[in-house]
Amino acid sequence: MRILVQPETSPWELRARMPGDKSLSHRALFLGAMAEGESVLTGLSESRDVRTTLRCLRALGARVRREGSGWVVSGWGRLCPSEPEQVLDCGGSGTTLRLLAGVLAAGRGLSVLTGDSSLRRRPMARVVQPLSAMGARVWGRGEGRLAPLVLQQGSLHALEWELPVPSAQVKSCLLLAGLQAGVPVALREPLPSRDHTERMLQALGVPLEQTGLDVRLTAPANLGGFSFAVPGDPSAAAFLVAAAVMNPGARVRIEGVSLNPGRLGFCELLRRMGAQVRWAVTHEELGEPVGWIEACGSELRGVEVQADEVPAALDELPLLAVVATRAWGRTQIRGAGELRHKECDRIHHLVVELRRMGACIREQAEGFEVEGPVRLRGAAVRCHGDHRLEMSLAVAALSAAGPTRLLGAGYSHVSFPEFWDLLPGRR
Ligand code: S3P
Repeated sequence: MRILVQPETSPWELRARMPGDKSLSHRALFLGAMAEGESVLTGLSESRDVRTTLRCLRALGARVRREGSGWVVSGWGRLCPSEPEQVLDCGGSGTTLRLLAGVLAAGRGLSVLTGDSSLRRRPMARVVQPLSAMGARVWGRGEGRLAPLVLQQGSLHALEWELPVPSAQVKSCLLLAGLQAGVPVALREPLPSRDHTERMLQALGVPLEQTGLDVRLTAPANLGGFSFAVPGDPSAAAFLVAAAVMNPGARVRIEGVSLNPGRLGFCELLRRMGAQVRWAVTHEELGEPVGWIEACGSELRGVEVQADEVPAALDELPLLAVVATRAWGRTQIRGAGELRHKECDRIHHLVVELRRMGACIREQAEGFEVEGPVRLRGAAVRCHGDHRLEMSLAVAALSAAGPTRLLGAGYSHVSFPEFWDLLPGRR
């Protein structure tokens, strides 16, 4: 699909709620499926990735039905997930595949997990190795490096593991494996990644300790059914916040959004760039801080992003590079090599496409270097089958001179189906 984005030069103001956070929606469905009794979920993300998780969990015996505007999940509780009759297709969702691998390592019979061509290129040794160390019988293509993965019923034992790269997906995979198998799990990360799973498990009464870089699931626990109003997605909000700070006279207010510190890196970095961004926590949902974010058109300066700041802003760093084209001076983003292992190589493709729009941006092994400010110009750019690349380029197009043609667009529904309805400007 092609989308023509016209620049928006007149002042605009937007007040909006974001769809349910994608990371939290996946976890709410998994924990509902593993709980004894019914769980009631409202505000669940309707994104393609979350629907993929829902479909796979149904194939494993969880019953999930719509009730009013929410969802009711009846899980397998103290039992194991059923042996799936079919290969489980995780589409393009890394979170679905990696969390499922954890649950199925302690499951029944044989399971096969696969995904689309992009997911089949993404690194899987990071879950295969620790699951094997836990006693799981798990195999993957390319000597355990790639999906499809095959898991055969086995008996798991306690795990102590140091993650080589910070990853909430890997951490969650191993915590869910420990929970499903009823064995302790002790993990250490090199840097803290988002801790949604830990917060939710603690709020549900699971004996889990979090100290610095260490997470310990200390004893077997049974989950009971729960209610959860999924907070809005800060990664979705980031696109509107970026659009606001880049455009003089623009203003945005987002309500009911997750303000988990592990997701606030983008807003913190914008603030360091001189942007007028404010946020405040109003309440908690299952251990997750929730509140509002406000931002408006701002004078920006370049920023240096170091490796230890990357995990809390990871998905938003390509968008930060877009914002940096409007900032005075140099922006350096370092230690973000993980961006090459997402739905596409987000470092390489963002650089190529933004250069077509006149950006002064250089590709580095583990990040970007941007010089600004530059007035971007409308161009024909490609989205490379990646929802976040498409939305980042759309934000760039909004403040460009002349219209931009997004070629191969139509992927925003993977994480943010409401994106094109909410983004100001004409198409
Ligand atoms: C996610 C964790 C991050 C993030 C992804 C969602 C999650 O990936 O990039 O969009 O829900 O746990 P990694 O944990 O692989 O870094």
